[in-house]
Amino acid sequence: MTQRIGLLTGGGDCPGLNSVIWSVVRASLGRGIEVLGIEDGFDGLIAGGTVRKLTLTDVRGIHREGGTVLGTTNRGNPFRYRVQQQDGSFAERDCSDDVVRSVRRLGIDGLIVVGGDGSLAIAHQLSEKGVPVIGVPKTIDNDLAATDNTFGFYSAVTTAMEALDKLKTTAESHDRVMILEVMGRDAGWIALASGLAAGVHAILIPEIPYSVEVVLAKIRSRWAEERRNYTLIVVAEGAFPTGGEAAYVKVAGVGTNARLGGAGVRLQEALEASFAAGWDHHRGAPEVRTTVLGHLQRGGSPGAYDRIISARFGAHAVELATAGRWGEMVALQGTTIGSVPIADAIGHTHLVDREGQVVRACRSVGICFGDHWP
Ligand code: F6P
Repeated sequence: MTQRIGLLTGGGDCPGLNSVIWSVVRASLGRGIEVLGIEDGFDGLIAGGTVRKLTLTDVRGIHREGGTVLGTTNRGNPFRYRVQQQDGSFAERDCSDDVVRSVRRLGIDGLIVVGGDGSLAIAHQLSEKGVPVIGVPKTIDNDLAATDNTFGFYSAVTTAMEALDKLKTTAESHDRVMILEVMGRDAGWIALASGLAAGVHAILIPEIPYSVEVVLAKIRSRWAEERRNYTLIVVAEGAFPTGGEAAYVKVAGVGTNARLGGAGVRLQEALEASFAAGWDHHRGAPEVRTTVLGHLQRGGSPGAYDRIISARFGAHAVELATAGRWGEMVALQGTTIGSVPIADAIGHTHLVDREGQVVRACRSVGICFGDHWP
C-alpha cells in the first residue's frame, strides 16, 4: 500500500507546476498518504539535498502562482552529475545510487516526477534501478510526445500573443518590421500558436527552414499595400535558414546544456543587409527591430486552461500511485486524462506538422512560413 510519496519538479520551470504540487498534496493527504517534497529536482535526493514533509498549509493558494515552491534545476541529472574538482574544473559523476539509497532511507513508496523529456528520461532510468516512479509531463514548449498538451504551454502562448499585440501597435506607427523571438528549442509550437492568435505576417519555426528572400517577398507585398507597411514576424529560437542551423549563444559544457539565442537578430541583420543592397520604395527601406521575449514566457500565473489540466494531472498521478501503476506517465488524450508507459513517452519530440491543419489554417489567412510566398 502506498503510504508515502516523494514529489519533485525537474527541468525548466513553467506555469502550472505549483498547481500540480497543490493537487498532489491535497489528493494524497485526503487519502492518508504523506507527501515528501524534494527540493531542486533530483538534487534533493543527493548528498546535501533538502526534503521536507508537505502539509496543507504549505500548499495553500499556490495553484494560482507561477514557478515551483520546490525549486528546480535543468542541470541536475544524477546519472551525469556535475561535480567540481579540486582544480576548479567540473567533471561528471554517476550519483544515481545515492538517489536510490535516499528513496529507501526516506521510506518513499514511489516518486512523482514532474518534468520534461530530460527529467522523465531520468525517472525512467531510475525506475530501471528499482525506484517506483510516476511521471507528470510539463514544458512550455509543448514538445512531448504521448500527451496532447503539456501545461504551461497556453500560458506561454498568452504571454507571447500579448507581446505581439503590443509590438503591432508600435510597428504600425513606425512602419517597421518587428521581430519577436520566442522559446521553442526543437518545436515551433509557441511561435505557431501565438503567431496565429496575434495574426502576424510571418511565423518562422524549426520544422520549416526559411529563406530570407521569401521573408523579403512577404515584406515587399506588405509595402505594396496602401497604408499597411509594417510587418510583424514571430521567430522560434530554434528556427534556422535553409541549409543553416539554429543560433546558439552558449555551447554545452560538462553538466550544462547548450543555450539557444540570436535567431531574431540574425534575421534582422539579414533583412537589413538586403535592404541596404537595394530597396526601391520612395519612402526608403523599413527599419527592423528585434525583441527577445525569453523567460517572461516561463514566469507568471498559469492561465485557466493550464491551472485546470495541471490540477487534473496531479490528481491523476496520485490515483496511479494509489493503484500501484508505477512506470506510467499521466497524459492528456483528447479531453481525458489517461496514462502511458514512461518508456513510450520519452525520446520522441512532438513537432509541428508542416502539412498539418494549424499550418494550413495559418497559410489560408495569409501568414508566411518563409518557405514560399505567395
Ligand atoms: O525547455 C524549455 C525551454 O523553455 C526552452 O524553450 C529553452 O530553450 C530553454 O527552456 C531555456 O532554458 P534556460 O532556463 O536554461 O535558459
